[in-house]
Amino acid sequence: MPPKRGVIERMFARKSIAQVQRETETSELKRTLGKWNLLLLGVGCIIGAGIFVRTGSAAALHAGPAVLLSFVVAGIVCAFAGLCYAELSSTLPVSGSAYTYGYTTLGEFVAWTMGVLLLLEYGIAASVVAVGWGGYVVSLLADFGLHIPAQLTGPAGYTLMRDGVPVLVDGQTVTTIFNLPAFLICIALALLLVRGVSESAKVNNIIVAVKVSVLVAFIVVGGLIVLANLPELVSKNWTPFIPENQGDGKYGVDGIMRAASIVFFAYIGFEAVSTAGQEAKDPKRDMPFGIIGSLVVCTVIYMLVAAIMTLLVPYTSLNVPDPVAVVVDAFGPQWSWLAKIIKIGAIIGLTSVVLVLMYGQTRIFYTMARDGLLPRVFANVHPRFKTPYINTLLVGLITAFCAGFLDINLLGDATSVGTLAAFAIVCLSVIYLRRTAPELPRGFKVPLYPITPILGILSCGYLITTVPASVLLLFVIYLAIGMVVYFFYGMHNSNLQRGEPQDDKPDMGEFVAPVGEQP
Ligand code: ALA
Repeated sequence: MPPKRGVIERMFARKSIAQVQRETETSELKRTLGKWNLLLLGVGCIIGAGIFVRTGSAAALHAGPAVLLSFVVAGIVCAFAGLCYAELSSTLPVSGSAYTYGYTTLGEFVAWTMGVLLLLEYGIAASVVAVGWGGYVVSLLADFGLHIPAQLTGPAGYTLMRDGVPVLVDGQTVTTIFNLPAFLICIALALLLVRGVSESAKVNNIIVAVKVSVLVAFIVVGGLIVLANLPELVSKNWTPFIPENQGDGKYGVDGIMRAASIVFFAYIGFEAVSTAGQEAKDPKRDMPFGIIGSLVVCTVIYMLVAAIMTLLVPYTSLNVPDPVAVVVDAFGPQWSWLAKIIKIGAIIGLTSVVLVLMYGQTRIFYTMARDGLLPRVFANVHPRFKTPYINTLLVGLITAFCAGFLDINLLGDATSVGTLAAFAIVCLSVIYLRRTAPELPRGFKVPLYPITPILGILSCGYLITTVPASVLLLFVIYLAIGMVVYFFYGMHNSNLQRGEPQDDKPDMGEFVAPVGEQP
């Protein structure tokens, strides 16, 4: 037994870099990714429900046409955090997520907190995307005359709305019971993950191409229609560009910032580029290109899509589950075939995002269980499929429950807050490591140190404050519960505290990331 140590000392116990390296055995990754590969990896992981779904309510309820500016704000915040991620991944030669970085820099308690935050960034984000998936599925099926009962298309206890007014079925308002499609997709993908999804760059590339193509088609056709009617559309739907502030994050500059915290969701996933640092051919040159490049490409796509959306229909009518499809309907009846293609593209693209996010969550639980911070059962691997099946089924149930019963706005806000907090800790870790281990070789250094990480911390902190107080209260309660679990369970069971080496990595066979994600 190691000598007894004080609580504070135990909270800040750190894993050594050598130890993490031994555990993750990643030194043999080949340096095969060039700057364009990295950029595409980023774009592939980023585009999802943020643009296909969340942009609608961000514009309708908070920013109006100025949601374009919200994308710029959120993109800049992500750029600060992305550069910090890149420095950490090139300094700590471990394949890992913010959780592992936390364990080697700020210690076990921060690593645990990171794990708690990542459940929001991955698990809850998967639910958000699943709800978006459900919205497009319901809409596509309706195009073919198949109607899922309205009660089964929304969260528990909500009045079904369309264009800001209650939907009437047989003259009655509809109270939704639960979101059946969103629930089912989570369960189906969890079962697929239990079976094992082997890395298939080809399939992933096709899916990325599909989702980017439908957005490009939307931009081209929508753009031509907009250009043909520009003065009229600007005066009808873009005047004023920034609607007057109505208080409570509704319109005005406050609304732009509030919407930035919502559309921030649309950028989540770019860290995948940073974590591929060890596979980059020339990290110094290629990492900033991959990170900033994918953020810039997505920002441009997002701004164009948002501009067309808010020009072609009044922003107040965008608070729907399938805003992109609603806008295609406004292209005119001759484009109804395009609406169907866009919906199918969105459904395919969103499926892969749910899959990657759920996969990421299972990996985080798995690593935490192997560290002793979660019960060992989370690391149990299926004898035949070689996947952490119990963990995966639990992740499936959590995401399915949230997607099925909770409101997408609440889930989206929770994801944004958790991710922003995680990003702030990543920026802090860069500063900490520069001070405590200046001698470590760094393949990539953030430009303008310490301004970049400081701005990263401040901007993430600021966006967190724009989220409704009720969500922040839930977030604080969630963190407090997380801390209680740490003090009563994790602290006493962690391998590091018990002076035990981490168990040998079990044979995980085909259990590899679907798109090169390495949480
Ligand atoms: N950025 C991802 C999305 O928008 C999470 O779905």
